[in-house]
Amino acid sequence: MNIKKLHFLSGLILTLFIGMHLFNHFMSIFGATTHLEWMDNLRVVYRNTVIEIILLLAVCIQIFSGLKLFFSKRQYVEGFFHKLQIWTGIYLAFFLIIHVGAVMAGRFILELDTNFYFGVAGLNTFPINIFFIPYYSFAIISFFGHLAGIHSQKMKTKFFGLSIAQQSGLILIFGILMSLIILYGLTNGFAGVEIPEAYEILKEKGI
Ligand code: HEM
Repeated sequence: MNIKKLHFLSGLILTLFIGMHLFNHFMSIFGATTHLEWMDNLRVVYRNTVIEIILLLAVCIQIFSGLKLFFSKRQYVEGFFHKLQIWTGIYLAFFLIIHVGAVMAGRFILELDTNFYFGVAGLNTFPINIFFIPYYSFAIISFFGHLAGIHSQKMKTKFFGLSIAQQSGLILIFGILMSLIILYGLTNGFAGVEIPEAYEILKEKGI
């Protein structure tokens, strides 16, 4: 299997997880309890040794193959959506290394339940939220931006009268809206979430 096919396959596996994961974060608009309940349900699917090993392998393969493709193809990239695909891919590689590393450290070193409160501690604590707000927003936008780039390469026909560029544009706009809605939910409608004492250690460490 060549590196492009490998990248596509690990991308498909990750997209299944990220779809569930972002749906979980979307449910925070109905409150922390709803988010926690959905995470409990979804963990039945992904929080087991087999699925998690597949997922973590997919993350490693995705980053490695993506960077390899970037260094071999970057001089041949043309057009807005192709450029968007490349640069959002670079951001996602950076984000996934830090994000998955932080989740694993939270779980195995700090021995915390990496639930809603772990995810939102940084987003709701000044001044580190100055880093976390763009860090998470760009990750969600980059995920959809990357999909918009792939769509513009693979799609060959109009859809409901929309050109391929318009279809890709809609995927990107959907990502920007999702990012705003999720950030609204994860910050309790921008009013701020009170973080339980068990997660105070994250503030001390600036995580
Ligand atoms: C909206 C901002 C986000 C927050 C607050 C967040 C938070 C979290 C939390 C709390 C976990 C641990 C889940 C658990 O213990 O069950 C997690 C895991 C993970 N997240 Fe995110 N996440 C966000 C966005 C993303 C995005 C955009 C991606 C991918 C592009 C992503 C990829 C992952 C991956 C791969 C894992 C590891 C799953 C595992 O092996 O257990 N996250 N995230």
